[in-house]
Amino acid sequence: MSDPALEAAASQVITCRATGQAPVVRTFFDLPTFTATHVVHDPATRACAIIDSVMDYDPASGKTDHAMAQDIVDYVTAEKLKVEWLLETHVHADHLSAAPWLQERLGGRLGIGHAILKVQDIFGKLFNAGTRFARDGSQFDALFEDGARFTLGTVPVTVLHVPGHTPADMAYVIGEAAFIGDTLFMPDYGTARADFPGGDARMLYHSIRRLLALPAETRVFLCHDYKAPGRDAFAWETTIGAERQNNVHVHDGVDEEAFVQMRTARDATLSLPNLIMPSVQVNMRGGHLPEPEDNGVSYIKIPLSRS
Ligand SMILES: [Fe+2]
Repeated sequence: MSDPALEAAASQVITCRATGQAPVVRTFFDLPTFTATHVVHDPATRACAIIDSVMDYDPASGKTDHAMAQDIVDYVTAEKLKVEWLLETHVHADHLSAAPWLQERLGGRLGIGHAILKVQDIFGKLFNAGTRFARDGSQFDALFEDGARFTLGTVPVTVLHVPGHTPADMAYVIGEAAFIGDTLFMPDYGTARADFPGGDARMLYHSIRRLLALPAETRVFLCHDYKAPGRDAFAWETTIGAERQNNVHVHDGVDEEAFVQMRTARDATLSLPNLIMPSVQVNMRGGHLPEPEDNGVSYIKIPLSRS
């Protein structure tokens, strides 16, 4: 089956490997949410992108803070990087994005997948967000379609739509490095859950097989790591080859039915992420807090279950 977006991404990886045009990646790991924020730059021009940033949030008090994001500002400033993009792989359910806060200080354009419109519709209804919550993606500067291409300085970028965990997940292939969000995790940990509203295990399998069709040497950067049993250190970088060989959920040879059965059974045992309510309500707004009420304060809603 022909897949022009995947072919473009694959040939980009091969070309970048051949020319040695490797972007530099620095990762900031947020322990409270196990999130890896990647700052990736082109050494030739110092153009950079910040992928999946984190705003600190204390669920008991509702207090927000930006210590984690400040570390990124300090790094970008010290390295004299020019932020061109703030990229989100998807609407996260486990941490709040710091993208608007970073954008105010460092510039750059905020990008996410075009299918965010679906996610805004689902969660807009779920949280009865009202008409002042625009569900047209206007909180973002760019809404990427599958196969979108641009450059980060001199480094080519191809965007792939990889739904399943949510309907709007995107992978950003930047030079020879793929930032794949919540699809695959480290080979010893497996894959992302597919039971959130709009999620689909079968769709996730297809998205993952697509990513696994990238060249084996593609560097792969993950959005999360939870340390697999028996592993002492957090890790967030692997390769497509290592995933194909060793991923405990979806290595070569695992077929669609086996994966869907495993994923569905496992998801039934998982509890909701601690920060799902605030995360989704903030991230569906591009990282902005909900519209303040007449006392100037923003609130997070929690729908109460009737059953
Ligand atoms: Fe996620």
